[in-house]
Amino acid sequence: MMRAEQLFKTFNPGTPLENPVLRGLSLNIETGQFVTVIGSNGAGKSTLLNAVSGDITPDRGRLFIGEQDVTLMPAWRRAGMVARVFQDPLAGTCEGLSIEENLALALQRGQSRGFQRAVKNKQRQLFRDKLATLELGLENRLGDHMGLLSGGQRQAVSLLMASLQPSRLLLLDEHTAALDPKTAAFVLALTDRIVAEQQLTVLMVTHSMRQALDHGHRTVMLHQGRVVLDVSGEQRAKMQVTDLLAMFEKTRGEKLDDDGLLLS
Ligand SMILES: Nc1ncnc2c1ncn2[C@@H]1O[C@H](COP(=O)(O)OP(=O)(O)O)[C@@H](O)[C@H]1O
Ligand SMILES: [Mg+2]
Repeated sequence: MMRAEQLFKTFNPGTPLENPVLRGLSLNIETGQFVTVIGSNGAGKSTLLNAVSGDITPDRGRLFIGEQDVTLMPAWRRAGMVARVFQDPLAGTCEGLSIEENLALALQRGQSRGFQRAVKNKQRQLFRDKLATLELGLENRLGDHMGLLSGGQRQAVSLLMASLQPSRLLLLDEHTAALDPKTAAFVLALTDRIVAEQQLTVLMVTHSMRQALDHGHRTVMLHQGRVVLDVSGEQRAKMQVTDLLAMFEKTRGEKLDDDGLLLS
């Protein structure tokens, strides 16, 4: 479904700020697989997601979504294949537009306009039904501006927008990190539900090792722009946070500081 082959990316090359962030990162994700991604700050997690969404172009390496080589494809052309929810609840939606308009934009990605006009009324019902599943009462607030919603409500709508088109690759970049614990738990549970219902393929970056092990099918750890750990199946099911830490330390032959790695 998604295949990254030997991705390299250096920011500000040839300057004192030169920063080699991706250093030969390879990752192969099957359709329907839910992969959690961990790693300390600066490990290249967001840069990987940016490469997949097309927001950055790797210096070297290839990236495939499905059978298609998308390495050089601009982000807007990938919009039908990739959906994304950011850490900042303000980042994923247009606050000046209504809930309905935001959902319509999400549905429109990768489709023709004529088709959209024809299904306007059906669309509204679809949006109501989808919003009702959030159990936040938003189905009665289609015309409200996104800016009126709380962070948790926005992330919930962002997830809904991301799941409006089937067989997409969903990229979640610490999408619950800015929320209070209760709201974060709600959004995470919602994530699990939507992913299962829509059978989405997912890359979820999280700061929490606990979350990484509790959600999805597989956990990869990035370090210095490469995958240094990749666990799934029985091995992962039996794994505790302390095991994950120990494996990482062993792999790298170095002591891991807690920077960016919460043990909760
Ligand atoms: N567009 C960019 N231009 C310059 N530097 C960037 C850019 N994006 C990320 N970086 C830098 O790359 C490093 C790794 O970033 P990132 O992939 O965001 O790490 P992570 O998400 O794992 O914490 C950071 O030092 C960050 O400042
Ligand atoms: Mg990041």
